[in-house]
Amino acid sequence: MKILVAITGASGALYAQRLLDNLDPGAHEIHVVQSHYAQQVIAQELPGGLRLPQGAQLHNLKSMNAPFASGSNPPDAMVVIPCTMGTMGRIAHGYSEDVLLRAADVVLKERKKLILVPRETPLSLVHVKNMELLLLAGATILPANPSFYSGVKTVQQLADTVVARVLDHLGIKNKLAPRWAEEKE
Ligand SMILES: Cc1cc2nc3c(=O)[nH]c(=O)nc-3n(C[C@H](O)[C@H](O)[C@H](O)COP(=O)(O)O)c2cc1C
Repeated sequence: MKILVAITGASGALYAQRLLDNLDPGAHEIHVVQSHYAQQVIAQELPGGLRLPQGAQLHNLKSMNAPFASGSNPPDAMVVIPCTMGTMGRIAHGYSEDVLLRAADVVLKERKKLILVPRETPLSLVHVKNMELLLLAGATILPANPSFYSGVKTVQQLADTVVARVLDHLGIKNKLAPRWAEEKE
């Protein structure tokens, strides 16, 4: 698969890092784009900076020379992780002024998979209406809501409970987080 990982300036840069850590560059073509504010949050939340998988291509936010800027060459899937309310609103309303937003626009119009991992609380009606619009347009909204039932012990394991669901929705087999009722009853 050709997968575009888009990182925006919401808290939870670790979710993006763990997704990148668990995408096999031998099996998939991996592209990455970051919003301007993502870089600020990454600096704050990932002490060593963002680690890219070998061979992953990092694209310039302000250049439309990336393949996925055109409907003629869309990714199979795009994940916006973590996704700010700002980016969610801009995608919902068709803004395309940088390559991250344009890619989301392309993915929606070409009926490819768009997974948004929003991180905000509480939600306003504006946020919920934007989510409604995106769901109607075919996106998957997969909130960064970790689960606690599997006895997680570390922050990374907690983040992985969200990333495992993202991988599930990408159709990538994984054992990143224990599944509910995995043991025989
Ligand atoms: C440390 C930090 C954490 C933030 N966390 C969130 C968040 O969880 N959710 C959100 O919607 N915005 C958050 N913001 C605000 C966004 O970064 C801001 O709205 C920005 O304009 C979003 O731009 P982008 O969508 O292009 O990344 C945060 C900002 C900073 C500096």
